[in-house]
Amino acid sequence: MTRDEIMALVRTVPDFPAPGILFRDLTTLITHPAGFSSCIGQMAHCVPGGIGAIAGVEARGFIFGAALAVHLGLGFIPVRKAGKLPVPTIGTDYALEYGAARIEIDPTLLALGQSVLLVDDLIATGGTALAAAHLLREAGAVCDTALFVIDLPDLGGMAKLAEQGVEGKALLK
Ligand code: PRP
Ligand code: ADE
Repeated sequence: MTRDEIMALVRTVPDFPAPGILFRDLTTLITHPAGFSSCIGQMAHCVPGGIGAIAGVEARGFIFGAALAVHLGLGFIPVRKAGKLPVPTIGTDYALEYGAARIEIDPTLLALGQSVLLVDDLIATGGTALAAAHLLREAGAVCDTALFVIDLPDLGGMAKLAEQGVEGKALLK
């Protein structure tokens, strides 16, 4: 499928979860077998060499991150919303386009110096991705690339990632 065809499978919902937000809903993409498969295949082509694991941010980042990890034969590291992991964690609070949240990881899942690709469905302000990259680095991993299905360029997330030495890539804008 072309990128335009994949883009056409993304549903746009106005005023969710708050007035004024144009919500890009990828459930219509992941329920389309050819669309989802093509999306993961094209994401795989964007993955740089030397990546040892994929990390994905709960919840939507799990869908794309885990599928990409299986496609590439890599393990998957879950970056979880607060209070979900049953072991000691490191965590950080952050702001996103429509609110605030906290994410946590189990630092023992990461090997020191391991190169981890951060994956999420979408980057808007970059708050979520930056918080996740910081946590992965705090745990000793190298996180210098992040991959998204959609970038909302007007919100400037990619530039914020670049300022922190994280190269962001996205299939769709
Ligand atoms: C969405 C999306 C990204 C984040 C992007 O997650 O999946 O993680 O927002 O926004 P930002 O670039 O402004 O930080 P959300 O927190 O809505 O959680 P969900 O995956 O559980 O739906
Ligand atoms: N996460 C942050 N902003 C978003 C948007 N506009 N659509 C879907 N997910 C988002």
